Amino acid sequence: MSLLFANSLLNDALALIGALMCLYYFAKCSWGLLVGARAYILPKFWRTDLTSYGDWAVVTGATAGIGKAYAHELARRGLNVVLISRSLERLRATAEEIEQQQGKKTKIIQADFTSGAEIYGPIEAALKDLNIGILVNNVGKTYTMLPCYFLDVPNVDKEILDIMNCNALSVLMMTRIVLPHMLERKKGVIINISSEAGTHPHPLLTMYSATKAFVNFFSRALNAEYKSKGIIVQCVLPLLVSTNLTRLETSIFVKQADDYVREALNTVGIREQTNGCLAHAVQHFVIEMLCPEWLRLTQMSMKNLKRSCEKRRLLLEKYKMT
Ligand SMILES: NC(=O)c1ccc[n+]([C@@H]2O[C@H](COP(=O)([O-])OP(=O)(O)OC[C@H]3O[C@@H](n4cnc5c(N)ncnc54)[C@H](OP(=O)(O)O)[C@@H]3O)[C@@H](O)[C@H]2O)c1
Repeated sequence: MSLLFANSLLNDALALIGALMCLYYFAKCSWGLLVGARAYILPKFWRTDLTSYGDWAVVTGATAGIGKAYAHELARRGLNVVLISRSLERLRATAEEIEQQQGKKTKIIQADFTSGAEIYGPIEAALKDLNIGILVNNVGKTYTMLPCYFLDVPNVDKEILDIMNCNALSVLMMTRIVLPHMLERKKGVIINISSEAGTHPHPLLTMYSATKAFVNFFSRALNAEYKSKGIIVQCVLPLLVSTNLTRLETSIFVKQADDYVREALNTVGIREQTNGCLAHAVQHFVIEMLCPEWLRLTQMSMKNLKRSCEKRRLLLEKYKMT
């Protein structure tokens, strides 16, 4: 009798736990959908006027991929743009394109962000008299087309310094340059491009992932510090975008840079941390559900990772041949 009673009690308890779990996931999914609609659908019809933050936007790594798309889109939305990259030729071509297509002013600054702190004096001098409303810390590099073990990174000593300077130091120094002027005017937007790889440790992309986690943490903490002073610090965490960095064709998973940035800019003032577009937000949500961090770091996942790296190597070889 008492065994029967205990059995039915256990059944009831399990049914209650099941019902609570269903309710939890239902509430989580519904909340995710609401937040997603607010961030990615509503701004298509109603969005922040970015010119209200200042006349100029500054974009690092502005002559290709996501940075170039930001430069164009910011000009399309009414801002003049400062472009910073290494190649003078590409800077001039992009500036001309923006002036012709968007009818806004541009200024170019040639700088290599893999260099150390010495490049920031001249950058600060070049930006001195501009009313900068938006800074996009976009420049970033990875060290090899094929993910690999830390010690197998080609020319590892140089790559350590290059990636720290380019992906981390640039974000700190550019912020240090523009933030005081934004604070004087009590308004400004700093958009830092991190990566999905900055949300969890990524073996075989270890240094890249760690620098992107740095950008993620820096942005969120800085936002908390300066939010009440009128400054928005947004951290953007893209998944895959078709650019020179990824060498991937566009697909339902891989966004085209222009489309990606159009959606990402719509989220300024709405999301402090964002995957940038609806497709990436959904992918992030699914990855989080199916692949928790402990699972990603197991030896089984490492084997899968190595297998997919091999596939990518073959894909890149094909890319080189065409
Ligand atoms: N593409 C993706 O799927 C993806 C995903 C997650 C995060 N991200 C992040 O998004 C950002 C942009 O990536 P992307 O894919 O657009 O890259 P990309 O297509 O390779 O473009 C990089 C841009 O940065 C400039 N640049 C590169 N190295 C530089 C350096 N040392 N100094 C100055 N400028 C430099 C390049 O111009 P020059 O060569 O003329 O200097 C170019 O304008 C990066 O921070 C990346 O980590 C990208």
